Amino acid sequence: MSEKRPVKITETILRDAHQSLIATRMSTERMLPIVEKLDQVGYHSLECWGGATFDASLRFLHEDPWDRLRKIKDKAKKTPLQMLFRGQNILGYRPYGDDVVEYFVQKSIANGIDIIRIFDCLNDLRNLQTAVKASNKEKGHAQIALSYTLGDAYTLEYWTNIAKEIEEMGANSICIKDMAGLLLPYKATELVTALKETVKIPIQLHTHYTSGVASMTYLKAVEAGVDVIDCAMSPFALGTSQPATEVMVETFKGTPYDTGFDQNLLAEIADYFRPYRDECLESGLLNPKNLGVNIKTLLYQVPGGMLSNLTSQLKDLGAEDKYYEVLEEVPRVRKDFGECPLVTPSSQIVGSQAVMNVVAGERYKMVTKETKDVLSGKYGKTVKPFNPEVQKKCIGDAEVITCRPADLVPNELDTLEAEMSQYKEQDEDVLSYALFPQVAVDFFKYRDAQKTKVDASVADTKNGAYPV
Ligand code: CO
Repeated sequence: MSEKRPVKITETILRDAHQSLIATRMSTERMLPIVEKLDQVGYHSLECWGGATFDASLRFLHEDPWDRLRKIKDKAKKTPLQMLFRGQNILGYRPYGDDVVEYFVQKSIANGIDIIRIFDCLNDLRNLQTAVKASNKEKGHAQIALSYTLGDAYTLEYWTNIAKEIEEMGANSICIKDMAGLLLPYKATELVTALKETVKIPIQLHTHYTSGVASMTYLKAVEAGVDVIDCAMSPFALGTSQPATEVMVETFKGTPYDTGFDQNLLAEIADYFRPYRDECLESGLLNPKNLGVNIKTLLYQVPGGMLSNLTSQLKDLGAEDKYYEVLEEVPRVRKDFGECPLVTPSSQIVGSQAVMNVVAGERYKMVTKETKDVLSGKYGKTVKPFNPEVQKKCIGDAEVITCRPADLVPNELDTLEAEMSQYKEQDEDVLSYALFPQVAVDFFKYRDAQKTKVDASVADTKNGAYPV
């Protein structure tokens, strides 16, 4: 085979890599000095926004996420910017009205996003319709991501059928989103081959190193014809993050898949991030535990992030000794919930319910509101039916909805605008408020206080209080 087919790379260091390894704490200030160099590499795209970055920047870094996006766009003139979007849940944890979804997509693109990767935790495509349509309307690239998972229902036929539907929906590309690192190398050959035979739109592969197979999986996927792979610069690669960019680039050198990237330029970028990695290791923000191979993720099919959540929930309850019982309960709850994938927010919902089932000593004796919502159909349709006994025990005779869940959510922008108008400084503020009302208001107040400080210092300067 000599025909050139360079593999494309999406760089995740500004989003998934730090979300996976250091709790999404990389600040805008840390990112900006290196964006111009990242822009020179020739990446397919730079994933830099969405996912947990929005919440984390408002909540922990006291930063305006919209401002971050504009600043990155300012320095990345050539490379398309990419974000991760949770379908009808946007970047939050509940289904929003269609008007909020549309407005969020519109503003994301207006502020600099080129590619929107949209997924649903149940792979219910109805939950992606509004976001895809809005993205098409704004001339963005709408990528639909399939949440990859294992189970009886997830046959090659399931994946190819859903891929066909995605193409028909008007998506521009498909991503296989393997958040737990469950896709094994030879399975990747089968899956990618089948998808390439089924659809014409490009196929991208996103995985995590958690289970230790990720770079082998990429190798097989690229040989099978995958168009794009997601990688992270080495200082924030491996472990719960992605395979290292430099390693994949070197692997394909001199082959038909050669990326043509400049290793010297990549080395300069790695040099920039390495001291920060050391700093994070020293402060404990980067836990070496997250850098090894976690074989439990293959045994229990639980994403890495979910494992650490379970540990902390059990710690809070003083029930750390129940860890393995909970791990074994997770797949059972998942089965009761129609064998759904485990990704935000289903991973949290299944995880919390598994903890309750074990800690209470009786399954579904204590039930979360989210569990009831899932079993009432409020998150959408699962691949298999819910366990009818569990459903009855949790929601009784309450009505189960079968329509697109957002059809029952009224438009809400006007109400939201009215609630937060006193804080509004830019159009986008209402969207921050829609997603995280309390966190956003705290941030607006902080922003105001900062401004007062600056105004005061300017006034002081005018009065000659400061030496010029
Ligand atoms: Co990911």
